[in-house]
Amino acid sequence: MRRALASVGAALVLTGGTMVASTGVSQAAGPLPCDIYASGGTPCVAAHSTTRALFQNYNGPLYQVRRASNNQTLNIGVLEAGGYANAAAQDSFCANTTCVISIIFDQTTRHNDLTPAPPGGVGGQDNPVPADALPVTAGGRNVYGAEFSGVMGYRDNSTSGVATGSQPEGMYAVMSGTHFNSGCCFDYGNAETNNLDNGNGHMDAIYFGTLCWFSPCNGGGPWVMADLENGLFQSNTGGSQNASYTGNRNPYVTTTLKNNGTNFFALKDGNAQSGGLATRFSGALPVPPFRSGYSPMHKEGAIILGIGGDNSNSAIGNFFEGAMTAGVPSDATENAVQANIASVGYGGPSPVAPGTLNSGSTISLRATTSGFTDRYIRHQNNNAVTSVITSGSSAVDKGDGSWIVRRGLANNSCVSFESRNFPGEFLRHQNFQVFRQPMNGSTLFRQDATFCPQAAHAGTGTSFAAMNFPTRFLRHFNNTLFIASNGGSNNFDTTTNWAADTTWAVSTPWTP
Ligand code: AHR
Repeated sequence: MRRALASVGAALVLTGGTMVASTGVSQAAGPLPCDIYASGGTPCVAAHSTTRALFQNYNGPLYQVRRASNNQTLNIGVLEAGGYANAAAQDSFCANTTCVISIIFDQTTRHNDLTPAPPGGVGGQDNPVPADALPVTAGGRNVYGAEFSGVMGYRDNSTSGVATGSQPEGMYAVMSGTHFNSGCCFDYGNAETNNLDNGNGHMDAIYFGTLCWFSPCNGGGPWVMADLENGLFQSNTGGSQNASYTGNRNPYVTTTLKNNGTNFFALKDGNAQSGGLATRFSGALPVPPFRSGYSPMHKEGAIILGIGGDNSNSAIGNFFEGAMTAGVPSDATENAVQANIASVGYGGPSPVAPGTLNSGSTISLRATTSGFTDRYIRHQNNNAVTSVITSGSSAVDKGDGSWIVRRGLANNSCVSFESRNFPGEFLRHQNFQVFRQPMNGSTLFRQDATFCPQAAHAGTGTSFAAMNFPTRFLRHFNNTLFIASNGGSNNFDTTTNWAADTTWAVSTPWTP
């Protein structure tokens, strides 16, 4: 084996091995995406996934997790050759602490591994994604996707076999139509090797999101586009030439891009759970007078994930698997890859009952102080406040007052609250006031966004201690949310009503 499965000692390797022996189940018999690309004469030069092997014979690590408690790492492998990720090994290694995904390994023999991206022309060092933020099922197994919440991304600037100059290539990625934004740029593919914008044609990457670079963009998106540098292209004229393509909001979306490097590119997407791919554009690369520099292309051969070529890192998105090829894959090859993806049966984790503090459950949090029991924690202008919300409230108010329970970003025995209508944004405190902010991956943010449930301070309900200020609890005061101690120098620390103000009824969500 070319890489050790664990870097923390034999006991963990053995633990993983035992679970493989007792629970391993094959993927459906037959070739996997990179076997299919190879049969079509366009072999994979990079293959990345946190969920499964992309070669039938692959038996190495898929990704590496690093835990916060002691910075040790563990490589997460497959349950058996060609199988699914051994997520149980991650769960036991990361119990009572938190983990990030420190490496996404390349499953080809080329070692085009992805690590957190360095600073670039735009944006500083990127953070790794939390390892357990996106629990899903694939092949009936519990596995994890990679959820990017902003200022997160991966890169490999020193690759082998990836197209350069005007060489042809293809690629696919499975992403989500439920976690996206219009930040630049949720990409997977070929980019500059120096983290800078080196000009038109220096990138060739799949983009998926709602950043409409060229008009028209039809409907609300998100759309698959080609990030060819200095532009996200839906066609050779930039904007969409396909009035019926209004975006793809499936929870699992297959996206493809192929580009022969001289005068042709094609974009497709489809529902990764079933059906085929739809061609959104197939034709010429952009040429003057519209734009110069793309025909021929000037590919550099770095690989990016979750960011733009110059490291623009304000996008959010989900990634489950993807690969890049040498040569332009045929439509038949891409159809066969899509059929294999659909056979995986990507799906959500086992349903979580709404209104509970279990990870994945959507809840609303109702105040319990007498006279305020019709008020719920909601965000408004990025502040966390309480408002009266009733069945007659607007959809916006109901969405603002609904939260998805996540395992605590800094301690997975506590919880974090992700906004129902602003995916990737969480309740966090700052100077003792509470806000809704995008998760930036920093240790401070993770801690500020982690709350530990405790017995109610008054009556029935739950109180939530701030993880990094354990004597302070989520409290409403003048209808604004703070973390408050029971007596202290701030007006919101007053002992009057403290017990009731810090007690919340965990309720069924206004927006499920
Ligand atoms: O092409 C869109 C983006 O523009 C690229 O990803 C980035 O390098 C530049 O800011």
